[in-house]
Amino acid sequence: MPIVSKKGSLMPQSPIRKLVPYAEKAQKAGKIIYHLNIGQPDIKTPKIALDAVKNNSLEILAYSRSEGSEVYRQKIADYYAKNDIHVKHDDIIVTTGGSEALLFAFGSIMDVDDEVIIPEPFYANYNGFSTSSGVTIVPVVSKIDDNFALPPIEEFEKLITPKTKAILICNPGNPTGYLYSKEEIKKLAAIVKKHDLFLIADEVYREFTYDGLEHYSILQEEGLEENAIVIDSVSKRYSMCGARIGCLVSKNKTLIQTALKFAQARLSPPTFAQIASEAALETPQSYFDAVITEYVDRRNTLVSELQKIEGVKVGTPKGAFYCIAELPVKNTDRFAQWLLEDFDVNGETIMVAPAAGFYSTPGVGLNQVRIAYVLNKESLIKSVAILKEALKVYKD
Ligand SMILES: Cc1ncc(COP(=O)(O)O)c(C=O)c1O
Repeated sequence: MPIVSKKGSLMPQSPIRKLVPYAEKAQKAGKIIYHLNIGQPDIKTPKIALDAVKNNSLEILAYSRSEGSEVYRQKIADYYAKNDIHVKHDDIIVTTGGSEALLFAFGSIMDVDDEVIIPEPFYANYNGFSTSSGVTIVPVVSKIDDNFALPPIEEFEKLITPKTKAILICNPGNPTGYLYSKEEIKKLAAIVKKHDLFLIADEVYREFTYDGLEHYSILQEEGLEENAIVIDSVSKRYSMCGARIGCLVSKNKTLIQTALKFAQARLSPPTFAQIASEAALETPQSYFDAVITEYVDRRNTLVSELQKIEGVKVGTPKGAFYCIAELPVKNTDRFAQWLLEDFDVNGETIMVAPAAGFYSTPGVGLNQVRIAYVLNKESLIKSVAILKEALKVYKD
């Protein structure tokens, strides 16, 4: 019998999606499930983006350029300029989601067995992208008791070996909501410059910062032009996850030329979705103001409801729309499955993402879950009430 690759066997399942079959079975059996597992916002996509596709008169749905349409890239550059990030359209490659931008970045800068330093917990699919690129993640550990603040930046430097090619941060962070200060970015910049490393910043949640805090992009940092690679996406910004459009941005010309070869191999990003994403750039600031207000309200509700449950620990996210919660259970993989298979309150239950998959250190995060506050306040309050009841009866 033919056998699959070692790499394929090693690919981790996504902790966000691996319980879907149990959820589908529960749904078929008539249970209502509150989906706290996935960052799929319930916020409406700007009409202007949907209309651009609906009202389109294309007669041939052709390939676009591999790096994305020039007009769209020019408009993305204008969007960055409004955010005080100054890049040119040819510093940008349009990708099929931020996911593909991550794959292009990994492929362009790392060889098999190279190392990338990442603060953990981190976006779970970094594990998958590293495995598919044959790259080893070297984690910098952050802890729930410190609200996931970074350990002293100097800790990063201790982890650098001759195999280290990059430091990867997610800012604001999924799953912790951590927002890097300007000072932290400056320290990271000093380290990558000193050791000739790339600094990859996944900034797909750039707009989602709370409590008056401002995002500082690595592309704003002077002198980091050759080192900085930004991963971006329309998925969360405009609640357009299904468009599958993102981009990779860097002023490092060799990096862009290299990433372009990966882009050429997959021909082009989706044409209709670029049309929608280009139109989405016209979204007024009032849309974001309303969305941010909504997320702050949801965050406050979720965190304060969770804090009322004995034995539950939760940090306060400063950005994005996730939090990590520590639960009084030994293994949240089993708990999350049990919630779907064996538990309900009046026919309703919740789906959460077990957090171990957001770490690369084995055995860490087993008593944690990631909760996405992408549902309305009432649903969040109901969900936490369900969690509270579940914890009363669950036996490890
Ligand atoms: C931190 C982070 N980066 C990248 C992605 C990839 O998003 P997409 O491929 O939809 O742009 C996600 C999706 O949830 C994410 O949370």
